[in-house]
Amino acid sequence: MTSPWIAYNDLAWTEDWLADPADYEDEVATFVGLIQRYAATPPQTLLHLGSGAGGMDHVLKRHFTLTGVDLSAGMLAKARATHPDIEYLEGDMRTLRLGRRFDAVAIPDSIDYMASLEDLRRAIATAVAHLKPGGVLLVVGKPQEQFQNNNFAYTGESQGIHITVLENNYINPHRPNTYEATLIYLIRQGGELTMHQDRHILGLFPQATWEQVFREAGLTLHQHTLDGIYDPYLLADGCYPQTIFVGVN
Ligand SMILES: C[S@@+](CC[C@H](N)C(=O)[O-])C[C@H]1O[C@@H](n2cnc3c(N)ncnc32)[C@H](O)[C@@H]1O
Repeated sequence: MTSPWIAYNDLAWTEDWLADPADYEDEVATFVGLIQRYAATPPQTLLHLGSGAGGMDHVLKRHFTLTGVDLSAGMLAKARATHPDIEYLEGDMRTLRLGRRFDAVAIPDSIDYMASLEDLRRAIATAVAHLKPGGVLLVVGKPQEQFQNNNFAYTGESQGIHITVLENNYINPHRPNTYEATLIYLIRQGGELTMHQDRHILGLFPQATWEQVFREAGLTLHQHTLDGIYDPYLLADGCYPQTIFVGVN
């Protein structure tokens, strides 16, 4: 089992060219601060759903005993190679049941893969099923009312390989409550250019839906804004506000 996206499988190796772990420091420090602030007791254990290549785990592991779960074999292989000290498991956040509970659960940048309300509910139910009483769920989402079409560019060069990724976020009016993230990869090596494309259909839910899903899951909701994280990569008049939803069990 793995996911259908080449970005997270055959092209997972490109993460090293495109993402510097230092870039996550401030963002993840914000997440850690919020988890600590809302936890009933000092949180020790964290379940990271959609842990990817482990970029954020550089920071998270300084504060928590971590378990990472991801759907994509390519990303899991990279994460395991980077962090042999972290437990990584292959799993789907819609169905995962580890039979263990954690002080906190974080879904910091993958909840968009819940492309239907049913999937969003299932992911939040998974998180709650893994939370201790008084535990904290942190989810970074993009309420529909604030979301707009955007373009991003990421680039990096190392070991004679130059990589640029252009990402287009597009609200497709023919598919309600979703947007598309389409990625074009330009990989140059030894004078040759290879190009790849990857299309991700992602969920886009109104603010009221976010609040309803947390309420139905029995979580007490707190909300914080997260702005500016992607500004270095946003093109033209882009704007990419996000909301940190913190639910207390
Ligand atoms: C942007 S990446 C996450 C990056 C990661 N949080 C980090 O620290 O670098 C999004 C990840 O979500 C994962 N994903 C998508 N759908 C998933 C699902 N249903 N269950 C678990 N992981 C999923 C993808 O495989 C991908 O690795």
